[in-house]
Amino acid sequence: MDSNDFNHYLHAFSDWISDYVKAVGHYPVGSLLRPGDISKQLPDSPPERGEPMDAIFRDFLEVILPGITHWQHPSFFAYFPASRSEPSILAEMLTAALGAQCMLWYTSPAAEELEDRMMAWIRDMIGLPPDFTGVIQDTASTATLVSLLTAREKASGLAINQSGFSGKEKFRIYTSVQAHSSVDKAIRITGIGHDNLVKIPVDHDFAMDVAALGAAIREDLGKGFHPLAVVATFGTTGSTAIDPLAEIGRIAGQYGLWYHVDAAYAGAALLLPEYRFLARGMEMADTIVFNPHKWLFTNFDCSVYLVKDPVSLVNTFNIMPEYLKTPEDRLVNNYRDWGIQLGRRFRALKLWFVIRYYGREGLQKMLREHIGHARWLRDEILRHEDFELLAPVLFGLVCFRFKPSGISGEQELNRINQKLLHSLNDGGKIFMTHTVLDGKYTLRLVGGNTAVTRQSVEAAWEEITRQAAIVYKQFDSL
Ligand SMILES: Cc1ncc(COP(=O)(O)O)c(C=O)c1O
Repeated sequence: MDSNDFNHYLHAFSDWISDYVKAVGHYPVGSLLRPGDISKQLPDSPPERGEPMDAIFRDFLEVILPGITHWQHPSFFAYFPASRSEPSILAEMLTAALGAQCMLWYTSPAAEELEDRMMAWIRDMIGLPPDFTGVIQDTASTATLVSLLTAREKASGLAINQSGFSGKEKFRIYTSVQAHSSVDKAIRITGIGHDNLVKIPVDHDFAMDVAALGAAIREDLGKGFHPLAVVATFGTTGSTAIDPLAEIGRIAGQYGLWYHVDAAYAGAALLLPEYRFLARGMEMADTIVFNPHKWLFTNFDCSVYLVKDPVSLVNTFNIMPEYLKTPEDRLVNNYRDWGIQLGRRFRALKLWFVIRYYGREGLQKMLREHIGHARWLRDEILRHEDFELLAPVLFGLVCFRFKPSGISGEQELNRINQKLLHSLNDGGKIFMTHTVLDGKYTLRLVGGNTAVTRQSVEAAWEEITRQAAIVYKQFDSL
């Protein structure tokens, strides 16, 4: 592309981006298409000759955009947020333009040194002690896998890396029944095997039952297993429950277990000093993961992985082929040795832009607003006789269900709530997801992107109650 054309499209696209960010609320929040609707519009084979950018962009607008779920929509309340922000978009544009591959200090010194500093800033901002150092991983799933691989290699003295499993290891890993599925996935990939993941029951607030954890470890020791690691969650996916981190830390210390804390979503709340008491004991962990790409307004992907023992981490992943040796190897962090992939994006830049643009206070303000919206909704639900709150509201997530008088059977309630969720999402006005808590089909509403406002949460509640009345009327025929 010649420089005039590039300049023209750069301006055209930046105008489009600016309009999109302003007007994202005008799109249907969830895509209303059916499976195959996009692929039938895509040619079977690639073009032989290059096509004009106008044609490509037109297809972006006409073919691709209708198949996008607008995660940054003010009425996007599903999963956990993947929040981005204007400063983060600007940084991503620069990252794309630089096109730098940041695997070694040598391949972009600024990327390595900025990442190092950002990890220290984040650690301090969330109130963790300086004995943690960090690295950016793509996702929390990768960070948890990296943590458990490190635990495995530390316990085996790097023997499994070298020779594979001997068959005598008998490792066991413990996590709660409410832990994220990334723990299950990591167990498979580490080769430890799903049968050796012990799921510990939870209490009435969906937090790990530590007495059951201690009992499971003792039982396994009695059977000749090797208890290797425990994964606790600070803010579970289902309900943002908090496992008792200090008690788990004490048990991990007592039995010599590796201790990983998954704070993927709720870690952001630790920027607020008034929430730090909830994380008491997190500092006992060996490793912690927290995703700025969830609730710290930093474009996906950006997952902060904090570790106390970088030597064990690097020992697990370090490989030194001739072509990657550099004169500075002894003086710097080469982050390719701090995780799975060799090639790495320059992710620290967007974090730097976000933290500098908003400052600690600006970030805290947005987080407090989001928590305030969730509390407002919680109070509305508690006041409404036909709705029921299903879990404590700790951060930005509200778990609830429609429970109209006249319907009391659990199966009927599950059915009517499932129908309600589908009606809401099919309507295109709001987008939510569900989970099951205590066998109850649970509606989850969590707002955490920068476009969510009190008005959009109020409008969501109005839509939920309106649709609930419609679904209730049709219930006999469901
Ligand atoms: C508690 C928790 N841990 C881990 C993950 C996985 O995050 P990622 O998509 O960054 O792998 C999620 C995703 O929602 C989560 O809620």
